[in-house]
Amino acid sequence: MTLERTYDVADRIARLGTETAFAVSAEAAAWQEKGNRVYPFHLGDMNLPTPQNIVDAATKAIADRKTGYCPNAGIMPLREALAADIGASHGIVYAAENVAVQPGGKPVIEKFLLTLMDPGDEVLYPNPGFPIYESQIEFLGGVAKPYGFVPGATNFLLDFEAIEAAITPRTKLLIFNNLHNPTGAESPDEETEALAALALEHDLYVLSDEAYWDIRYSGRSKSIASLPGMQERTVILYTFSKKFAMTGWRLGGAIGPKVLVSHIATLNVNQESCTTHFIQWAGVEALRGDQTGAEEILAILRERRDLAVRLLNDIDGVSCYSPEATFYLFPDVTALMERKGFATYDELRRAALEQTGVSFCTRLHFGRELPGESRRYARFAYSGIDTADIAEGLGKLKAWAEA
Ligand SMILES: Cc1ncc(COP(=O)(O)O)c(C=O)c1O
Repeated sequence: MTLERTYDVADRIARLGTETAFAVSAEAAAWQEKGNRVYPFHLGDMNLPTPQNIVDAATKAIADRKTGYCPNAGIMPLREALAADIGASHGIVYAAENVAVQPGGKPVIEKFLLTLMDPGDEVLYPNPGFPIYESQIEFLGGVAKPYGFVPGATNFLLDFEAIEAAITPRTKLLIFNNLHNPTGAESPDEETEALAALALEHDLYVLSDEAYWDIRYSGRSKSIASLPGMQERTVILYTFSKKFAMTGWRLGGAIGPKVLVSHIATLNVNQESCTTHFIQWAGVEALRGDQTGAEEILAILRERRDLAVRLLNDIDGVSCYSPEATFYLFPDVTALMERKGFATYDELRRAALEQTGVSFCTRLHFGRELPGESRRYARFAYSGIDTADIAEGLGKLKAWAEA
């Protein structure tokens, strides 16, 4: 007997996107279950443990019965710690009232849009980019206006002309992800300044997605929020996921102007009441406690980056920047695809998985190709794979690619 029937779901469901990278994970898992070796470069998850002092703080908080509801915007010690930490790293001043704690970084995207975007408003967002931007803009009735990247001398740069050309009187919001998934791009100061000037000129509110802010191997970043006139029009997306290897804990925050943050906190009341209470105490330890764990995570990631960049560039037909931030590489695979005769991204990805076990995402997992886009790219994440497997997997990829 089947219980299937047709459901008259709401129209908006047809506009809801997803993260197709999770489908790549499922495919890789199925391939592995059949007894094949898989080298997982596909998902931005981490195979590193959360630092022990943070784990201990969570178990202590449970034992201390931090298990009931807590304030909707978050516990005060965490809001204060986030305000102090982000204020210090950005060179601006935030107070606890500027912080609404969230169950992860991702909810900030939806809550920012719910707070500021009316149906029909246009939103600029990066493509390639984190797919949830486009999904949420369209789901909530906005108009998604993608902007791309152009290859620069040492890394990708924003396609600034495309951003300027896309602005209309209906443009209200700009989503800016610096440091960037999937390209690993980091905006030079001039680029961030030019973008801020554009936001001021056109009166745009900005979501500054800083999920990878602390995954930085050298140099420093300048946040768009820290530029003159920008703090009052920018909401920062913060997450504990990457810096402290806490992807599954679901802890993050929205940091921005008090009025916007108070609306976001009211959305918290409506959606989840509060972020898990004892997890927030672990967040306080993460920010205020011993930082050795986070430093070790970064050192491991740096070693993986150096190895993966070297080995990818060693493959004929593949070329790749060495980004100073994030844990993603976005190699140009145009020549490889041409030589192997692959017309589509999916052919490349499937053949690589089935013939070498190397599993990765392609440019299409981060949005539709933009008009005029002629180069082909893949995304290799090195957050979930050890150096020995990076070496073995990319060795197999090279042998296959050059055969
Ligand atoms: C650019 C970007 N923003 C936001 C997020 C969401 O992070 P979280 O896992 O904390 O929800 C991610 C996660 O991969 C990301 O890549």
